[in-house]
Amino acid sequence: MLPLFDTPPSPHKPQNPELDRKSSFGSLKPYLPRTWLIFFVLFLQIILLLIARNYHISTAVIIPQHRPEVAAITAVDGGDTECPSGKVFVYNLPHFFNTELLENCHELNPWGSRCDTYSNDGLGRPATKLAGVIPQSLTGAWYWTDQFASEIIYHNRMLNYRCRTLDPESATAYYIPLYAGLAVGKYLWTNNYTAEDRDLHCHTMLKWVHDQPYWKKSNGWDHFITMGRITWDFRRSKDDDWGSRCIYLPGMRNITRLLIERNSWDYFDVGVPYPTGFHPTSPSDVETWQEFVRTRTRTTLFCFAGATRGLIKNDFRGLLLNQCYNSSGSCRVVDCGGSKCSNGTSLILESFLGSDFCLQPRGDSFTRRSIFDCMIAGSIPVFFWNRTAYSQYEWFLPGQPESYSVYIDKNDVLNGKSIKGVLESFGKDEVRKMREKVIQYIPRIVYAKPHQGLKGMKDAFDLAVEGVLNRIKDQEREGFKW
Ligand SMILES: *[C@@H]1O[C@H](CO)[C@@H](O)[C@H](O)[C@H]1NC(C)=O
Ligand SMILES: *[C@@H]1O[C@H](CO)[C@@H](O)[C@H](O)[C@H]1NC(C)=O
Ligand SMILES: *[C@@H]1O[C@H](CO)[C@@H](O)[C@H](O)[C@H]1NC(C)=O
Ligand SMILES: *[C@@H]1O[C@H](CO)[C@@H](O)[C@H](O)[C@H]1NC(C)=O
Ligand SMILES: *[C@@H]1O[C@H](CO)[C@@H](O)[C@H](O)[C@H]1NC(C)=O
Repeated sequence: MLPLFDTPPSPHKPQNPELDRKSSFGSLKPYLPRTWLIFFVLFLQIILLLIARNYHISTAVIIPQHRPEVAAITAVDGGDTECPSGKVFVYNLPHFFNTELLENCHELNPWGSRCDTYSNDGLGRPATKLAGVIPQSLTGAWYWTDQFASEIIYHNRMLNYRCRTLDPESATAYYIPLYAGLAVGKYLWTNNYTAEDRDLHCHTMLKWVHDQPYWKKSNGWDHFITMGRITWDFRRSKDDDWGSRCIYLPGMRNITRLLIERNSWDYFDVGVPYPTGFHPTSPSDVETWQEFVRTRTRTTLFCFAGATRGLIKNDFRGLLLNQCYNSSGSCRVVDCGGSKCSNGTSLILESFLGSDFCLQPRGDSFTRRSIFDCMIAGSIPVFFWNRTAYSQYEWFLPGQPESYSVYIDKNDVLNGKSIKGVLESFGKDEVRKMREKVIQYIPRIVYAKPHQGLKGMKDAFDLAVEGVLNRIKDQEREGFKW
């Protein structure tokens, strides 16, 4: 699970994605017929935001939501080989777009090889040092998986997906296996590459895909892609800003993107869980793990895992850290400065396993992999921004935020509200109920190890792809608005 921070933050990284988002108006220019409608809708949304300051509501108003039915939580029919939502055709892209990037893993970033990081089909090295912490039968199900590995994991799963078709004519959806995150990751940390370098893979892919006969079927509305980094890494508006321009390239407009962090205002961005270190090999692995975290003795009320070094006094995370240190005995701090937590330590997992709650502030962006590390350990997440999870992972998490998480408004914390006080106010039974909800949702936020998925149990991949297929169906319905 552990690498919380892939690399040191870059001076170019947008500190405030909200500012970046605004420049997205520029990207609408090529679509003049729709521009005014879109602009109007966005304008309405912004007014709503200003009034209600409630992103959750505003996205729910505008965006058709599809929540996979609750029955999916537990199990599907063992013999379910039918594909009621349709089938996926996987484009056979030239290797330049995916496997060649992996083969050149030694040059994916300037600090050293990423070959170990993305070994084992993207899962990374086996997490052997967790032996003794986790049940023995599950030692083969834990890896040091990189948080940016989703595009590799999705590709492997898609090739073996039970609803994959080799006949493009009969497909409902078309999958584009470009490793957009690896392609740009390579260029993020040095200044000697041009904007063209950073957009090369995406640009070339779009030319390739637009030349395919199936693109025209619905102008790309039935095409989708997994992009392994946060959306803001693909939304560069000026040449010398951070990241690639991939999502802003005109040809990208109608393609659905599965991302670990979405732009809540963009219908085509879909938030999917960050990959964690847990990759069950069977439904019984999942059940063993659920029972393990359910019966843990949790000795601290809450915990905070993150980089503590360099947190300035007024930084929100600095405040949380202070509160945590002040609540001695009730709160545990795990300092992940530098790469302390990325190299084979079980510290983070142990602190989540030992705490009732875990604090999940925003960092450089709204989301963190830690949300999922925490929930997988059966710890109840505490959020301070709605965009950290509630308006990100709607297909995967419970609809009622208060059923599995605690929300404390950031402004209340800034005004001195005691987190310990809030968390202590929950009765034992309430805590148990919330934890049970978290545990019930574990299958929905993990990525199974077998490329075929889990027999009779849907994981995050299954839900994501079914979600996309259902959306395509919704959109074909008469009167569809987005
Ligand atoms: C955020 O979510 C919480 C829990 O659902 C809700 O009570 C609160 O009003 C929301 N706050 C904002 C600013 O949208
Ligand atoms: C850019 O700089 C890095 C080292 O900082 C070097 O490895 C790389 O070859 C350079 N690339 C170009 C295109 O000059
Ligand atoms: C996106 O879809 C719309 C119709 O829904 C179409 O007019 C437009 O050309 C499409 N964009 C691209 C880049 O294909
Ligand atoms: C928390 O610790 C800081 C010093 O680090 C102190 O100023 C503050 O009063 C403490 N607050 C509480 C509630 O103990
Ligand atoms: C991790 O630690 C081992 C020794 O425990 C060391 O050999 C290895 O180079 C370290 N890897 C990283 C990425 O720091």
